[in-house]
Amino acid sequence: MHLQNRLLITITLTLVFAFLFVSWPINPSKAWSKKEPTATVLLAEQPLTEYKARREKLLEKTKNGIVVIMGEEEEDLGVEAKFRQNDNFMYLSGVEIPSAILVLVPEGYQGAKEWLFLPAPNKFLDQWTGPRPPITEQTAQAFGVERVASLSDFQKVITEMLTSEAFQKSGEKLYTVIPPSAYTRLIREEKFVEQVRKTSTTINLNPIAPFLADLRMVKSSPEIAMIQRAIDITSLAHSEVLKTVKSGIFEYELEGTILGQFYRNGAQRPAFPCIVGSGENTTILHYEKNRKKIDSGDLVVVDIGAEYNYYTSDITRTYPANGRFSARQREIYQLVLDAQTTAVKAFKLGQSTMHDLDTVARQTMSQSLLKDSKGNSLEQHFPHGLGHFVGMYVHDVGDYSHPLPVGAVITIEPGIYLPDESIGVRIEDDYLVTKTGLVKLSENIPSTPAEIEKLMAK
Ligand code: GLY
Ligand code: MN
Repeated sequence: MHLQNRLLITITLTLVFAFLFVSWPINPSKAWSKKEPTATVLLAEQPLTEYKARREKLLEKTKNGIVVIMGEEEEDLGVEAKFRQNDNFMYLSGVEIPSAILVLVPEGYQGAKEWLFLPAPNKFLDQWTGPRPPITEQTAQAFGVERVASLSDFQKVITEMLTSEAFQKSGEKLYTVIPPSAYTRLIREEKFVEQVRKTSTTINLNPIAPFLADLRMVKSSPEIAMIQRAIDITSLAHSEVLKTVKSGIFEYELEGTILGQFYRNGAQRPAFPCIVGSGENTTILHYEKNRKKIDSGDLVVVDIGAEYNYYTSDITRTYPANGRFSARQREIYQLVLDAQTTAVKAFKLGQSTMHDLDTVARQTMSQSLLKDSKGNSLEQHFPHGLGHFVGMYVHDVGDYSHPLPVGAVITIEPGIYLPDESIGVRIEDDYLVTKTGLVKLSENIPSTPAEIEKLMAK
């Protein structure tokens, strides 16, 4: 059930309302005129001003087009899954209410540029999944948007907007998420696009996703703080794994330890299914079954990430089940670590792309004297990319073809996988691109073989 989520919304709203009433004991019409969001009111621990700034930046890119972003719908009565708002909607609004819709109208409509359509309170549904806020000016203020309206009015209002004289004069550009034809997960967006196409053949439909990807690639300081928190929670899970891992226990016991640490420390969920693979399972990249008993002499790949307030982390360590690496495990481990270190050292701001760093890591492996059992280069056993952007989504949106910009957060995660030796090693850390180079945000999670053995010996 969604109690945690609903409780959070209720508490947030209560706090926000309390703040509004304590700080502005004014009549509603005055409150309505005081539309500027304040820096002190938070949604998902980020200031209202932060969300407002993102909406304004987006409108600078889309200029005079109308932007429509659909929130995630909740499945009936919240039985099957814990609700998670979709990333683009959350990025622009901070609003976790299921089924909400955000509309940005640069010319303004009925005096408002920002419209948030919300499901109206409903006695029956509110009892199952928690209260929905009223459709009032106070709610608009609490969310830092200019206008809230009832979701049941969305069709009528959007049709009016799209057929208005101002929209026609401005070139009839509409930006929204346009689902690829075979992508059935975006049913709501698909229906909306269909409906717009039926409303008028002259409306110029444009994808909003590339603009949002550009914005989301560069993280603001509140976003970096959220990612750091997610990393710190993941760090607590890794240090618990380090204390717990041994031969004779099951992979799922470590998964239990990890999820326990995530939830105990305030994460809302894991950013992706925990990968806890021992022995031959270390060589399956996205092994998620986690059912095997850990045997003596196994390596254990633990690839995990907590999600905190819609921001993810992704950190992998490889542990020796017995607390000591065998000579062969240790030399492969060291090579993977060297590949990571050389890639980080090779980074040049304004020049390095993800692909360049990948090339450096591969060179380190191919230049090594270590070989596989048939005498081939170990670089042949590095089958995935060196890294990816991290943000609201674990493989976050961003531009892989250009130099990495200041504010991007990436993983660097080389790996070597040798199924015939039951040896798989992956080491993954999260880095922030800064003016002075890459900063390792997961610095406090030990990764040298000596540190790992020392800590496991305790
Ligand atoms: N942590 C899993 C991945 O990056 O694919
Ligand atoms: Mn990763």
